[in-house]
Amino acid sequence: MKKIAPSILSADFSNLAEQIREVELGGADIIHCDIMDGKFVPSITFGPIVVKAVRRITKLPIDVHLMIKDPDNFIEDFVDAGADYISVHQEEVVHLHRTITKIKELGAKAGVVINPATPVNTLSDILEYVDFVLVMSVNPGFGGQKFIESSLKKIAELKKIRDDKNLEFEIEIDGGVSSSNIKKISNSGCDIFVAGSSIFGKDNISGASKELKKLVS
Ligand code: DX5
Ligand code: ZN
Repeated sequence: MKKIAPSILSADFSNLAEQIREVELGGADIIHCDIMDGKFVPSITFGPIVVKAVRRITKLPIDVHLMIKDPDNFIEDFVDAGADYISVHQEEVVHLHRTITKIKELGAKAGVVINPATPVNTLSDILEYVDFVLVMSVNPGFGGQKFIESSLKKIAELKKIRDDKNLEFEIEIDGGVSSSNIKKISNSGCDIFVAGSSIFGKDNISGASKELKKLVS
């Protein structure tokens, strides 16, 4: 099943509970939380305290995307806060197998993320261990950026490896996803679609979520 994962980065935080209700109404499958530290990426967002609040608001799975230095130091905090999926960047983590194993041992789904300039072949020896791969289709740090088209062939490449090697990881895309491109992203083999501004930036949040879902169903 294809899954829509609204990113609360673009939500109105003064009204977060209501905004999450809206995407639930719109058939969202996962809530995506972008954790930024002002070091790995230029912006700062929020940490485990907000994820814990999201946990109290919704029963949907929470997907924590760690765009931070030394993510190993915080994995336990995010699992305790209620994260169901946790992803770390290939570019940041030196002992990736150890980190992925730790996330899984703590009971969450473990994912690896690649930036637009990072090739898929850097993941060849970790793919059999991960639950999902997140392909960044913008340079991480901000919502509302333009989709980088070369991400499509990375998704196709990952899907081919998954088929050839009989692996089971899910493929997720993040950045610049909208109603105008979600179909072609889906056709290239993507399973999970993160969308921030194209959902929370709209007046009708539940309608926008519903539309994206319909386009990939
Ligand atoms: C970017 C974040 C994304 C962001 C996507 O660094 O990882 O999750 O919220 O926002 P849109 O959908 O607006 O590109
Ligand atoms: Zn993200």
